[in-house]
Amino acid sequence: MFLVSGPDLVVEAAKAGIVGAFPTLNARSPQILDAWLADITRRCQGAPGGYAANLILHASNARRDDDLALVVNHRVPWVITSVGSPVAVIERVRAYGGRVLADVATIRHARKAIDAGVDMLVLLTAGAGGNTGWLNPFAFIEEVRGFWNGPLAVAGGITTGRQVRAAQVAGADLAYVGSPFIATHESLAETDYKQALCTAGADDIVLTDAVTGIPANFLAGSLRAQGILQPDGSLLPRGAGDLASWKTAWSAGHGVASIRDVRHVGERVHTLRQEWLAAG
Ligand SMILES: Cc1cc2nc3c(=O)[nH]c(=O)nc-3n(C[C@H](O)[C@H](O)[C@H](O)COP(=O)(O)O)c2cc1C
Repeated sequence: MFLVSGPDLVVEAAKAGIVGAFPTLNARSPQILDAWLADITRRCQGAPGGYAANLILHASNARRDDDLALVVNHRVPWVITSVGSPVAVIERVRAYGGRVLADVATIRHARKAIDAGVDMLVLLTAGAGGNTGWLNPFAFIEEVRGFWNGPLAVAGGITTGRQVRAAQVAGADLAYVGSPFIATHESLAETDYKQALCTAGADDIVLTDAVTGIPANFLAGSLRAQGILQPDGSLLPRGAGDLASWKTAWSAGHGVASIRDVRHVGERVHTLRQEWLAAG
């Protein structure tokens, strides 16, 4: 999660038995990314879970090639590609035994990612934090399962172990859980952001492309504070904000109502596991 997940969050997730992920851009320079990857690799040794690095492949990402080179150097076990074609990444990551997961929000992109040879699809569905999808998860999973038998993850508003179980029953193998990990002691989010999540519900989440030009979900209060959401309820036009606004426009998915306190990552994972077991 952009500006949220760093080494501590990722390492604690791996220690708790899940896969912790972070976008490479969260490290402010390739030098810092190099240090982060060395640190994460060392601290994750022997952990029951794992870690993933997310490469934003959009042409506007000037660090795309440098960051890929570092990911390859450090042999990152899981590489998530988003906002662009995974083709250039797959061969290089596979060469050292890594696995490539591609975020997709449409059937067309799912097919393209499969044709490119990805190891796993991640279906971004309606209500996800960050750059969201818009398809209904049941419909999306069902249609993709018509042509893909491989590993399938689903993302969007999943905040409890019961929902993870539901995603599996619906046909997915794995679930992404994003927003609940913003409200952890290990996340890089500022305290006010974490606290705002603890009182929010689904009606407080607003979908807009005003911040970065790509549709994303945000807490209404933070959009109001920035003038992106106007007092009359209207939103500024597409891309009127910029990446800097992403820091003060606080993103979260529709599942925020399950987040009522700030916890350690390990506690969150423990609760998810208990809920998942109880729903079995
Ligand atoms: C604050 C925030 C930042 C995010 N940044 C990224 C990102 O940089 N790259 C990415 O692939 N997904 C990003 N996401 C999306 C997550 O990977 C995931 O798909 C999403 O959080 C799942 O929805 P949920 O938050 O409802 O669990 C972000 C999500 C949030 C909440």
